[in-house]
Amino acid sequence: MTTSTSREPGRRSGILRTKPIEAILAHSSAEGDESGGGLRRHLGAKDLVGFGVGMIIGTGIFTLTGIEAKNHAGPAVTLAFLIAGLVSGLAAVCYAELASSVPTAGSAYTYAYATIGEVFAWIIGWDLVLEFALGASVVARGWSGYVQHLFGLPTTFFGEQSVVNLGAMGITLLLGIVAVVGVRESARVTNAMVLIKVSVCVFIIAVGAFFIKGGNYSPFIPPSQPVEASSTAGMEQPLSQVLFGVQPSAFGIAGVMTATAVVFFAYSGFEAVANLSEESRNPARDLPIGLLGSLALCTVLYVGVCIVITGMVPYTEIDEGAPLAAAFSHVGLGWAGVLISIAAVAGLTSVVLVDLVGMGRIGFAIGRDGLLPAAVAKVHPKYGTPYRITIATTVLVMLFSGFVPLRELADMVSIGTLFAFVIVSAAVPILRRTRPELKRPFRVPLSPVLPIVSVLACTYLMTNLSIITWIRFVIWMALGLAVYFFWGRRNARLAHEEGRVPVG
Ligand code: ALA
Repeated sequence: MTTSTSREPGRRSGILRTKPIEAILAHSSAEGDESGGGLRRHLGAKDLVGFGVGMIIGTGIFTLTGIEAKNHAGPAVTLAFLIAGLVSGLAAVCYAELASSVPTAGSAYTYAYATIGEVFAWIIGWDLVLEFALGASVVARGWSGYVQHLFGLPTTFFGEQSVVNLGAMGITLLLGIVAVVGVRESARVTNAMVLIKVSVCVFIIAVGAFFIKGGNYSPFIPPSQPVEASSTAGMEQPLSQVLFGVQPSAFGIAGVMTATAVVFFAYSGFEAVANLSEESRNPARDLPIGLLGSLALCTVLYVGVCIVITGMVPYTEIDEGAPLAAAFSHVGLGWAGVLISIAAVAGLTSVVLVDLVGMGRIGFAIGRDGLLPAAVAKVHPKYGTPYRITIATTVLVMLFSGFVPLRELADMVSIGTLFAFVIVSAAVPILRRTRPELKRPFRVPLSPVLPIVSVLACTYLMTNLSIITWIRFVIWMALGLAVYFFWGRRNARLAHEEGRVPVG
């Protein structure tokens, strides 16, 4: 087993120290064999696309579509989904280059470690906790809402009116157990649900198309309207409107951009495919297919669903709780509404599951580097999964999904995802400069132009999120830095290898 500690020329030390890619790869392959107790390599391209789609389609299309059409964009919510899909595509191309060059668990976190330095890697890891754990919480709450809607369960314990969302907590607990038992089993369950989700989108597009009324598309972008002043209006205003001194408003072009930033949530998750690179049989070929394939498929489905739904119902009458099911009831197809609700429940289940599995992989990578206690990252001897981190995540998700409203959690996921995309996109040209000789089975076309456009687009979308979301994000990041400076910096594997910090 390689324990490469030799310093490359120009490698940095201290909090900006970088991890040699050779050490990352040697570490992965050594642990991938039978003796190492690491993760098993058993996933192909189809598994990865399925896993990605399972992660992507969720509360974003099933719930946020209605909220954003009604409150920010009108029929132009279609445009919001299209722009968000294209921006995600830019980031996906960057992910594909990094994931194929550095095939290891931890994705964005590991790429940051290899390029811009340890403290940034930690920030990204901390940010991904936000994305995965809060993402699972959002979807668990969405699940609970649909179950309540389907079976008329008590609103005290199910859906957004609940005091304690026992529905969300229950499904999280159940899927946490499945995630601990192993990814092979998880993938099998996920695959069945992915099929259901894709089928229901195709069903909505194919059947709903017959009920479109052209008049519902007019106006396509409703004219800008000032937002009424209230005690929370200031905090809810997008950062960009504050920065540019714009009057708080809804709809218009600004409304479409806000909707784009919010529905970005709907695409978050495809990058979890990169976390499975250590379990992929042929990462060089299969990772780009998994990342770009799952994203392209979902963009087409999302845009199709949006066109149909906003054509079936005037945007002012779109339902905010179960917009896709309600649109069919609106045109007299109640049976189709029930069918869609059942599929939504199944589909949302798969998203929670892949979030919990993805989180385990990130924790595994961070713990292996010593930035989290080694005991946390331990792999289960029988199931081959990072069970401790998965259990910890499950508990965290249960708490968030039990007590925090869906929309507040969703905005946090969007900002966290966009931030991770900024770092990943920036890492591509940095790595090309610092390690030009590295084998890159997949290369971003037009680098550095494309990665720079990706950084700017993601940053711009971040500024379209609310002030309160920014405040929460900054607090979360500050907390993460405190953990790093008091614990990770001293205990990092690289710190010991540098010999600068005494062990223990
Ligand atoms: N992208 C996932 C969703 O829409 C998180 O629910």
